[in-house]
Amino acid sequence: MLRAVLLGPPGAGKGTQAVRIVEKYDIPHISTGDIFRANIKQGTELGKKAQEYMNAGQLVPDELVVDLVKDRLLQDDCKNGFLLDGFPRTIFQAEQLDKFLEENGQKMDIVINFNVAKETLMARLTGRRVCKSCGASYHIINIPPKQEGICDTCGGALEQRKDDNAETAENRINVYDEQTAPLIGYYKESGVLADFDGELPLDEIFNQIVETIGA
Ligand code: AP5
Repeated sequence: MLRAVLLGPPGAGKGTQAVRIVEKYDIPHISTGDIFRANIKQGTELGKKAQEYMNAGQLVPDELVVDLVKDRLLQDDCKNGFLLDGFPRTIFQAEQLDKFLEENGQKMDIVINFNVAKETLMARLTGRRVCKSCGASYHIINIPPKQEGICDTCGGALEQRKDDNAETAENRINVYDEQTAPLIGYYKESGVLADFDGELPLDEIFNQIVETIGA
């Protein structure tokens, strides 16, 4: 049983570590960014509403996010825990999540917070490439695919996310500083925050996370 949140600025490595954590602890990975991107791809009403905010590097309004996450957490596969990635992102979202957990007799086990310098974030975001077919994430320098532009896992074509250009990436980092960084203090106060150096190699970060949570 593990109920956890991944916290950190855009490009901190949340999605990358999420893949490993959910496999290790056998819990669902709930990424609000992935949910919105899937809705945009499918052309749903939610996708249409979220798209303009995401492309501008702004947060999608709280009212479009909170109920969506609550509904997801009520699904059967979350009975033994979950890993939230990219939610909560505002104090309001965090308060709503706490309220939801309390109403359901649950509590958060850990908030995994990644610290990464802004220059590193910019280099990671602008160099990221994602598989169009399976969503696997690469980096042109740090984690290159074996064959340029092709996914190692499924052979799909790699593309750059629309919000990973330098201007939008910088905007996302600023939005993080203003609206999401206050969550660090919020979770420190409730005693569930665990800090990690997100600049370390991937395996080292993952090993530290497992050491902190327990095998
Ligand atoms: P979302 O999809 O959540 O994006 P994000 O938070 O900006 O985070 P990223 O996915 O960009 O980065 P990451 O930390 O997962 O890094 P990654 O592991 O890929 O949100 C997108 C948008 O949706 C938001 O801007 C907003 O509009 C909207 N949204 C989503 N949730 C919302 C909410 N709750 N409320 C309102 N709006 C919401 O790593 C990045 C790169 O670095 C990769 O290339 C990776 O290979 C590389 N890398 C990772 N770790 C390392 C390492 N240790 N060493 C070297 N390279 C590394």
